[in-house]
Amino acid sequence: MTRRALVTGATSGIGHAYAAELAKRGYDLVIVARTTDRLEAVATHLRGRHRVEVDVVTADLATVEGVARTVNRLTDSARPVDLLVNNAGSSLAGWFGTTDIADEDRQLDLLVKAPMHLMDAAIKTMAGRGGGQVVNVSSVAAFTPRGVYSAHKAWLLNLSQWADIHYSDVNISVQALCPGFVRTEFHERGEMDVSGVPRWMWLKADKVVAASLRDLDKGKTVSIPSLRYKLLATLAQYLPKSLVTRIAKRGR
Ligand SMILES: NC(=O)c1ccc[n+]([C@@H]2O[C@H](COP(=O)([O-])OP(=O)(O)OC[C@H]3O[C@@H](n4cnc5c(N)ncnc54)[C@H](OP(=O)(O)O)[C@@H]3O)[C@@H](O)[C@H]2O)c1
Repeated sequence: MTRRALVTGATSGIGHAYAAELAKRGYDLVIVARTTDRLEAVATHLRGRHRVEVDVVTADLATVEGVARTVNRLTDSARPVDLLVNNAGSSLAGWFGTTDIADEDRQLDLLVKAPMHLMDAAIKTMAGRGGGQVVNVSSVAAFTPRGVYSAHKAWLLNLSQWADIHYSDVNISVQALCPGFVRTEFHERGEMDVSGVPRWMWLKADKVVAASLRDLDKGKTVSIPSLRYKLLATLAQYLPKSLVTRIAKRGR
């Protein structure tokens, strides 16, 4: 039987790589983002290449209406979703405490409230249907205090870990994907200067997604793509306070 995945932020970067890989694996798709023409271009390409159904939902997930539209599609019992990928995200230029608090609210809505609402809807419908899967795109930033973005990602990591344990009884698995630096549009959109990030720290979106789906098949709750970031995430738990302070001062 054909399975269906809903991927948010599927027009670029990591979300696009999920959509492409899942279509290759034969999943029908529902793809979500704000930019309709980019969504249509991705849909046309994937339909033609992989002979799968691709539905498009134009929605701003930082808004109540955008989340409601996506929840409606997610809970449509005529076209059920087996895998939810909560991926859409962005970063705000500037340090918390200097930024506009209305912009911070939108970030909270996009990075925390939207995945929470979509995960709530997915769990409720999947539990009634005998199971399903959720991937929440967090970040290695979740492992150290690096400002409000890393706080949002830590929230998502923590909830995913709990939900994976709690809902295993009803055959629902929840993964938190925690990538390091990935070459996407993310840093340019967030006006981040990443010129000092060494080459070895950069990952490719398709490799990140391959690791996530491999870990999902194995039932791993926390997926950290690449050995170098697995090591860094482990070390982050034992860092001396002086180093944590240095990292925190550079985060935002
Ligand atoms: N790149 C990295 O180094 C990195 C590392 C760790 C974690 N992450 C996380 O990975 C996820 C994907 O980021 P990416 O690197 O792939 O970034 P990206 O290339 O900028 O892609 C972001 C995607 O999200 C969509 N999006 C942004 N704001 C949205 C909104 N308000 N409503 C709906 N869709 C929205 C964008 O499409 P539209 O603009 O058309 O809406 C786009 O499809 C994010 O959650 C990010 O925090 C990224």
